[in-house]
Formats: sequence, structure tokens, C-alpha cells
Amino acid sequence: MRCIALKPGADLAGFRAAARMLLQAQCVPGDIAWTTTAAPDLFDTAAALGGAPVLLPRAVAELIDSIILHSDAEKYALLYALLWRINHGERHVLEVKSDPLVHRLERMAKKVRTDIYKMHAFLRFRRAGNETPERFAAWWEPEHFILEAAAPFFVDRFPSFRWTIFTPIGSLLWNRETLTLGPPGRRQDAPEHDEFESGWKDYFESTFNPARVNERAMLAQMPKKYWRNMPETRSIPGMIQIAASRVDAMIEKEAAMPVKRNPQKAVDQMFDQDPDSLEDLNRIITASDPMVSGGTKAVLGEGLIHPDIAFVGEQPGDQEDLAGRPFVGPAGQLLNRAMEAAGFERSQVYVTNAVKHFKFEQRGKRRLHKTPTTSEVKHYRWWLEKELELVQPKLVVALGATATLALAGKALPINANRGAATFGDQAGYITVHPSYMLRLQEDDSRQDAFDAFVADLKKARNLAEAA
Ligand code: URA
Repeated sequence: MRCIALKPGADLAGFRAAARMLLQAQCVPGDIAWTTTAAPDLFDTAAALGGAPVLLPRAVAELIDSIILHSDAEKYALLYALLWRINHGERHVLEVKSDPLVHRLERMAKKVRTDIYKMHAFLRFRRAGNETPERFAAWWEPEHFILEAAAPFFVDRFPSFRWTIFTPIGSLLWNRETLTLGPPGRRQDAPEHDEFESGWKDYFESTFNPARVNERAMLAQMPKKYWRNMPETRSIPGMIQIAASRVDAMIEKEAAMPVKRNPQKAVDQMFDQDPDSLEDLNRIITASDPMVSGGTKAVLGEGLIHPDIAFVGEQPGDQEDLAGRPFVGPAGQLLNRAMEAAGFERSQVYVTNAVKHFKFEQRGKRRLHKTPTTSEVKHYRWWLEKELELVQPKLVVALGATATLALAGKALPINANRGAATFGDQAGYITVHPSYMLRLQEDDSRQDAFDAFVADLKKARNLAEAA
């Protein structure tokens, strides 16, 4: 048995060094005891270990960066087990979402993300002393080792104040120029009250939406232990009591109110609420701002739930944007014809897009289609994954490069990858986008392309039936 000692907390450098050495020495996961200690004399210390760098897929490196922050000390053993498998023929193991290890690691990463989110959302600064320039302090009890990961948010938000965040695992000190990591603090290091309390309370009361009152969900998201830090929480019981009458008043006013759109809020809500029905997800998508230039309204997916096949296109076009439905313009008509030629109908499938808004550039009266960038596709990817999780098709057909990027998580050339595919643990099929055929000039090549597309749809249907 080999004992590896890492520093308490989140020892990413130590874990990396140890993992390199252990992989090179072919140490199997079961033969290693991972321990954390501030006095590592008796053990191999990570700093003393050698080993060649291990090249990892980006998603794995990102997952490691998150999980290292988790408070469960078993994280090192779990991460090493993952690295071992990646190095022993399972390079794509992370895509197998049903794998127990992958599932557990992803849940741990989610817990870390949620912890960071809660710190950003619920931490409250209070004025400390009467110094000028003003100094603010806050107390926070994170569940994981997230202090440094959470810090940039506060620097961005409050660059011109001097502030300190005290926590039991360390403190963050910002002097308006540099951020310093300090020793652990105590609750009494930050004041419990200040003259800004009423400001937070007023703000909360004015932004409180009584129609969203769900006491259980509220407590799940904002457990009572955080209430003590948040002056506005004193308003909650009273506001819950009067929520019903405020909802009635709001409904009356609603027609006159402009719709508020805020993409970040929508993403936070999804992350927070994890919608468990397509209706909920669609409501969130509809309420959010376009994340591409030009888009007006969200065009949602439509069709059969639990179908054999779900088609994913790029983004709605001009006509789809006007009609509010996917694939109703020329590309959609061609898709319908190809489905018929392949022996099935549109009513038997689900149809959606990777990007839910029409990205365009206005040229005179015309709205010219613009291809979404990789980062725009990435923004919408969360929605698409959630949507497909709720629709549960047997097979997903990616129509063209943007859909493939969204589903595979990376750009893949269509011709080289045309055919059966897997997207994570979802059975899939990659083919061309119907508008590619519309762009072909000569009738013959267009017909050939159409025939090949119909052949793809037949293969996809057979694969779906067999799945
Ligand atoms: N092209 C797409 O990718 N989707 C549509 O909905 C219409 C055209």
C-alpha cells in the first residue's frame, strides 16, 4: 500500500504531481491510501514526486478543477480512479453519464458549483468601523473549499470598496488593488448589523415576486442557516402571508408591464430550479433574453414526446422567427419531404434547434441569417441537453455542423462523421443540414444530395427502432 499525503483543503498541485507519478509507476487505484495532513513526514509528499505530465481532455481537467474544491477527502481517490481509467483505454469515460463513478463525480462538481453560487447570491457585506475610505466585512461558512474560486466575482462587483470576507477556512482581503488570502476568521470578525440593513430589506421587498412563492423551494435554495447573514430574510414570513393578495394585484397590472428579460437570471434560475418538465423549461427559455444578436423571440422545440427520433437544427430562420415554430420555412419543407420519402411523418418526431433565437443582421428590409459562434452555441447547450433529457427520444439526429457542435460538445466535420454517432450516452446520427441542399445549384447534384439525405433518415429510423 502506498500512502500519499496532500495538504488539507484543495491541494490541486499536490494531487497533480502525485497522480503523474502514480500513473507512471502503474500504481492501481486500490493500492493507494490518500491522506491529508499538515505534517507529512511519514508519507510520500506530493512535492517530492516526479512523473511525466498527463494530457487530459479539457472536460476532465475542468472536472478535476471543480472536484478538488469538494470537502470530501475521498475526492482524491475518486479522481485518481478516473485518471486511471482514462489512461487504460477509457479515454471517453466522462461521456458515459450512467457510469457510477462519472455520476458521482458530476454530482460532486454540481455541489461545488452550487456552493459558489450561494456564496455569490447570499453573502452580505456590512460596514466595519467608521474609517474612511469605508471598509466592509462579511462572514460566510462555505461547505467546500471554494474561497479562491468564488473571489473574482466579489472583486468584479465591489472593486472600489475595501472589504474582507471571513470564513472558517480562510479570509479574503481586497484593498482596492490586490486580493490577499488570509487566515481563517471568526463570526465576530464581521459586524452583525449596519445602517445599510434597511437598504437590503427595501431592495428585497421591491424585487420579491409573490407569484413565485414556494416555501419549500425557497428553504431548499436559501436554507435558514444563511438567513442570519441576510437582513432582508426578516421580511420573508410577512411577505409569504400577503403573497396571495399581491399575486391578484400583479395579475391585474401584468398586461401593462413590459416583459423583463435577463439571460443570466434565466441561467441562474435553471441551475437553481432544475426544471423537471418541458413546460417549465420552455417558460424559462421564453422569458430569457436572446444570447445572440438580433433574435427576437424564442422558437421552442415541438412534436412528439418520447419519440423515436428528435431532429436538432441550427437556429430558427426568418420565417421560423415570424411564425414562432421551428422548421416551417424552405429548409423545414425540404425536411418534411425527406421524412415522407423515408417513410415517416413530422407528427411522429420531435423537432428543435441548438440555438433558440434567430441570429441575424438587418440589411435594409432584409434580415440576413448569421451563423452562431461556438460560445453562443455553448450558452444554449444547457437548454438543449435539458430539453432532450425531458423529451427522451430514442435517437437524436444532428442536422449540420452547429447541431453537431451542440450535441457532441466539439466541432466535428460533417462528411467525415456522417452516420451513426453517440452524444454522451445518447444514441445519435449526424447528417447534413437541409439548407445545404437548398444552396446546391444544379438539379442533379441537388437530387443526389436529397437522395443521400433520405437514405440517412432511413438509417436513423432503423437505428432508432432497434434502440
Ligand atoms: N434552419 C434550422 O436550423 N432550423 C430551423 O428551424 C429553420 C431553419
